[in-house]
Amino acid sequence: MKPAGGQSPEADVVKQEVVRGSDGRVIIVDSITQLAADDAGAIVVCGSHGGTSAGTFALAVPLAAVFFNDGGVGKDDAGIAALDMLQARGVPAGTVAHTSARIGDAQDAWDHGVVSHVNAAARALGFAPGDLLSVVLAKRVMRRGDPFAAQGAATDAATPAASGPSTRQDPYYLPDLAWVHHVGYGHHVERVHSAIVDLLRGAGVAAGARVLDVGCGSGLLARELVAAGFEVHGIDASPAMIDLAREYAPTATFEVLPLPARAAAEVRRDPPISGDAGLPVADAIVSTGHVLNYLDSREEIAVALAQLARALLPSGVIAIELMTEAYCRARDAVPVHAKVEDDWAIVTRFSRPAPFRYDRDITTFRRVDGQWRRSDEHHRNVTFEADEAVRILRENGIDAEVRSSFGKESLPAGLAVVAGTRRVEGA
Ligand SMILES: C[S@@+](CC[C@H](N)C(=O)[O-])C[C@H]1O[C@@H](n2cnc3c(N)ncnc32)[C@H](O)[C@@H]1O
Repeated sequence: MKPAGGQSPEADVVKQEVVRGSDGRVIIVDSITQLAADDAGAIVVCGSHGGTSAGTFALAVPLAAVFFNDGGVGKDDAGIAALDMLQARGVPAGTVAHTSARIGDAQDAWDHGVVSHVNAAARALGFAPGDLLSVVLAKRVMRRGDPFAAQGAATDAATPAASGPSTRQDPYYLPDLAWVHHVGYGHHVERVHSAIVDLLRGAGVAAGARVLDVGCGSGLLARELVAAGFEVHGIDASPAMIDLAREYAPTATFEVLPLPARAAAEVRRDPPISGDAGLPVADAIVSTGHVLNYLDSREEIAVALAQLARALLPSGVIAIELMTEAYCRARDAVPVHAKVEDDWAIVTRFSRPAPFRYDRDITTFRRVDGQWRRSDEHHRNVTFEADEAVRILRENGIDAEVRSSFGKESLPAGLAVVAGTRRVEGA
């Protein structure tokens, strides 16, 4: 066995620690045969298949959890047989899909691996098929506020480092900006709402069906959807937005629920409740204002897309707007946006601090009780390609496609709509 830590002496064999936090550490290793005694207690992501021989090697060292490649699962589930062996010893274990990461390539499993199978012990910890493994593991070992300690991970587009660690503590859209968005930026919903209603009706979503409005903001779209006869439930990370939405669209229901939703209670079938809950199931899921691009990394966006796909009922319809790289390219020449009204003003400065990032420093001024009040927010957006979103939705049971808009309206260059219908199992 080789020593733990650092690169293996064989140049081609990866073995390294990628994340360390207050709640543990993650080691990636191309082959499970490379485990050493001082790997005890680590979470291991390996490139090996999850067959019985791999299970035997994994059991030789006490691990906090271990993830293999499912190798296509194969005859008699041989590619995931290790999961039961580890379960018998109480060790959480899972696999990533062979279609998401190359077998034998731990770095690929870390960068792109999507969980395909888990044993009961891993499920109890909140791991679920469809999760992007690195996001769930990084969250697991790091408490909120820990520095993101990814070491030696590749910095290509798909890694957490590429889209940047989050040090953000406040939700976006505190009360002043939420209000300015509500009174001054309704034109986008104005442009798309009837196309969304037509899209839903055209796909057979009937009046009375439950529509989940993701990142509903102040309820601008929810109110239109209610007027069209749908039962609307809005979720948003911003408490100030939800307060406005409850006032503006009082017959819809709303809750503060940031994406990605909690893995442990990912989808719930009960009526909306506030607090410690996952996503409610819905007949349709819509989202305007490139909400998913507000998540902290591409990995989180991928996880959120998979969660939304799983929250959709059979034959349900999803239509989500995304900000792609083309959107930022179209705006490279526009460094500042400003708008001035009688009792409010906004100045937005744009920047591209890292690949796939599109940030905004937003300053608002509001006149309240005769006094001007200034508020500042820094928004990080992470671009995401529509083709990749389609791939994730398809892997999670949605027949999805990229569209240039929700319907006949035209969207600003670089905004894309990803839309599709949930397949009916066995149909
Ligand atoms: C540009 S606004 C769009 C609001 C609304 N959909 C509209 O079109 O007017 C983006 C919204 O995404 C919400 N948001 C940002 N991050 C979120 C997250 N992680 N989960 C849920 N909502 C989020 C913000 O609070 C904000 O309301």
